[in-house]
Amino acid sequence: MSDPIDKILDAVEAGESIIKNREILKLDYIPKTIQYRDPELEKVTQSLSPILKQSRPSNLLLYGEPGTGKTLVIKKVIKKIKEKVIKSNFPINVAYTNSKNETAIYGLIVSLGRQLGFSEKELPTTGLAISEVFKRILKKINEEKLNIIFVIDEIDHLAKQAQKTGNDILYQLTRANERLEQGSLTLVGISNDLTFRDYLDPRVISSLGEEEIVFTNYTPEQITTILKDRIKDAFIENSVEKPALDLCAGLAGGEHGDARRAIDLLLKAGEIADRRQLKKVTDKHVREAYENIEERAVKTALKAYPIHKKLIILAIIRSKNFSTGEIYLIYKNLCKAIGRDELSNRRITQMLSNIEEFGIISGRIVNQGSHGSTKKYELKITSEIIKKAFEESKDSSTLKDII
Ligand SMILES: Nc1ncnc2c1ncn2[C@@H]1O[C@H](COP(=O)(O)OP(=O)(O)OP(=O)(O)O)[C@@H](O)[C@H]1O
Ligand SMILES: [Mg+2]
Repeated sequence: MSDPIDKILDAVEAGESIIKNREILKLDYIPKTIQYRDPELEKVTQSLSPILKQSRPSNLLLYGEPGTGKTLVIKKVIKKIKEKVIKSNFPINVAYTNSKNETAIYGLIVSLGRQLGFSEKELPTTGLAISEVFKRILKKINEEKLNIIFVIDEIDHLAKQAQKTGNDILYQLTRANERLEQGSLTLVGISNDLTFRDYLDPRVISSLGEEEIVFTNYTPEQITTILKDRIKDAFIENSVEKPALDLCAGLAGGEHGDARRAIDLLLKAGEIADRRQLKKVTDKHVREAYENIEERAVKTALKAYPIHKKLIILAIIRSKNFSTGEIYLIYKNLCKAIGRDELSNRRITQMLSNIEEFGIISGRIVNQGSHGSTKKYELKITSEIIKKAFEESKDSSTLKDII
């Protein structure tokens, strides 16, 4: 048999990969054709088009489940508007920022300023009050008669942060025009958290949602077409078997038609086949990729759990009859072992339901005859994954003797 290292290196050298263009499977790739989103593309364009006549478009809110093409659609429209603007030399500017990438509201507003051409000196990265930054931005818009479209992607993160810190920046942004004598500021908000209205000031909702566009979920058939398009350009011919394609679409489309998950799954499955130097991606590779992705998501959630949730899960691992009562007793002992005060039985019962909602454990009510009934829990994932996640978490040194 040939040396395994040589085999891999030779294959890479010879370019024998079934993935011919990996870029096309990257998440920020903008495909040439956006399938099934003509109505949304048209509505967004229509809504923002007054900017070309230098009048103010309405504020706009886009929402829909993750992976339904919101960012893709807005980026494509922005790109086209920018191309038109460059040609005609209008005082128009489109700024885009993702509020998930900005840890502070300050950063988000400065990012807007930078895209309007403010230098570090005019708008330092730290040190000013947010209201001062905003004032400078408005002054520039006014003086230079600029027409601005400001896109805030994943605006729910900003809304949550603003609510936590009591900042009214969203209100200021949506009402900026009232402070402008010339020029305009239009806000486009995007969210996949459909409940985000609950933590917004009603005045913000009414002005941000002057126009709203809802992105519906893709069906598995639509996901299949989106995948086929990518496969054509990203893989060498006939290297993705039909059952693999169907499974990708089924797994990602099953829940809410998430195109991102489908494309990611395809890439991961392709990499698995590639690593084994196979010429075809089969449904087995897709299944394996799916399990890897799921496992990673569960591990990330487990790592981030607060310490008492971790202790509950460790108690379930040690439990013999899995009843709520026994789990609570073991939990109390674990608290003692690491020198922590225990939480009340009621809090722990709440946490158990919460862990159950995420699917890490499942519970069922068991009737115990004259002893009444109790809820019993079982783990839905292996204790190896749990232990590994806890060992890699920030609590690892506190928990090291009981993992
Ligand atoms: N209609 C489509 N045609 C082709 N590719 C698509 C289509 N819709 C989405 N995609 C691709 O799926 C992935 C996810 O899309 P996108 O990032 O736009 O989702 P989103 O709605 O912004 O999700 P989130 O709310 O999680 O940010 C991207 O890689 C995008 O290129
Ligand atoms: Mg997005």
